[in-house]
Amino acid sequence: MPSQPRTLLVTGSSGLIGSEVSTYFSRELGYRIHGIDNNQRAVFFGAAGDTRWNQRRLEKDLPGFEHHELDIRDRAAVLALVRKLKPSAIVHTAAQPSHDRAAAIPFDDFDTNATGTLNLLEAARQACPESPFVHMSTNKVYGDAPNRIALEELPTRWDYADPAYENGIAETFTIDQSKHSLFGASKVAADVMVQEYGRYFNLPTCCLRGGCLTGPNHTGVELHGFLSYLVKCNLEGKEYRVFGYKGKQVRDNIHSLDVARFMAAFVAAPRAGEVYNLGGGKANSTSILEAFKTTEKLTGRAQKHTYVDQNRAGDHICYYSDLRKMRAHYPGWDITVSLEETIRQIVEAWKKRDRG
Ligand SMILES: NC(=O)c1ccc[n+]([C@@H]2O[C@H](COP(=O)([O-])OP(=O)(O)OC[C@H]3O[C@@H](n4cnc5c(N)ncnc54)[C@H](O)[C@@H]3O)[C@@H](O)[C@H]2O)c1
Repeated sequence: MPSQPRTLLVTGSSGLIGSEVSTYFSRELGYRIHGIDNNQRAVFFGAAGDTRWNQRRLEKDLPGFEHHELDIRDRAAVLALVRKLKPSAIVHTAAQPSHDRAAAIPFDDFDTNATGTLNLLEAARQACPESPFVHMSTNKVYGDAPNRIALEELPTRWDYADPAYENGIAETFTIDQSKHSLFGASKVAADVMVQEYGRYFNLPTCCLRGGCLTGPNHTGVELHGFLSYLVKCNLEGKEYRVFGYKGKQVRDNIHSLDVARFMAAFVAAPRAGEVYNLGGGKANSTSILEAFKTTEKLTGRAQKHTYVDQNRAGDHICYYSDLRKMRAHYPGWDITVSLEETIRQIVEAWKKRDRG
């Protein structure tokens, strides 16, 4: 008798990371995918954040993909579904993902990011404690403490002046006593809880503290997904607003495919209560000014922009991830998509996005 296919439960499956993970595990690894998403992104960000197009794409493209219209805040429904499915692995990407948006919706933010994560962890503990549990955390758990690192100002970007950070920020960096935004605080709560289910209950969990995660399936809006949104503005001839730091603020960008590849490596050889800084690293880092130039080169259109002389509260001036722990624990994994190739794919995707 043929063995049952392995099943993956993905929360936030219509989002950038959830859809990429669903596609990767289905196509490359033969998993049967169950996606949870209630299009909450459209509630958080309005029509421009609507992710139904991506849900339809998965339903069309992935054999056996099953969509569950469920809110992760609904504890009883989450428990019932996880009990019924007993998935071989869980990848949790559903979230209120915006640093800036959280202040206006503190309860929605905390209930989704912190309590929603607890609902899933407890369901996993009760129904499938052996199944790897991958949680998408964020580098905002470090609050604005990275801004205390000595910096040097270069012509188009800030960089670390302290040689201790030559390779970027490691997982040992403090998460305490700095400004996080309410989003950063709700994600800290989730991150520590995911670690705790690993340490206290020995569940195979990990937190991936993302830098800027992006790719062609990102529904970028001004408040979240800067590269995707920047490219959209470029193509539409719309003004992109730069908030402070002279446009020299630096982010490391990782293509969602490389995120999915790392998740697959963890699921294949899980550890308990681990934490990884998952970003593009120094090689895939860019400032806003540099991103304008790369995008202009790829589209042939000038980037319209204005400068607002006020940085976003708690925003990082320079952040790139130290990837050495990920590479040491999972030597088969590395970054495979360059920054320029990522931007090229985003340009192509916005040109043909089915938003119907
Ligand atoms: N994109 C980035 O740059 C970035 C950086 C660091 C960390 N992260 C983290 O990665 C994860 C995924 O980010 P993304 O960019 O794919 O976000 P996204 O907004 O594209 O996807 C999240 C999905 O979750 C869904 N969702 C939200 N609340 C829900 C709820 N209560 N119930 C069910 N579904 C719900 C949304 O509708 C959306 O489709 C998040 O945890 C985010 O904090 C993202």
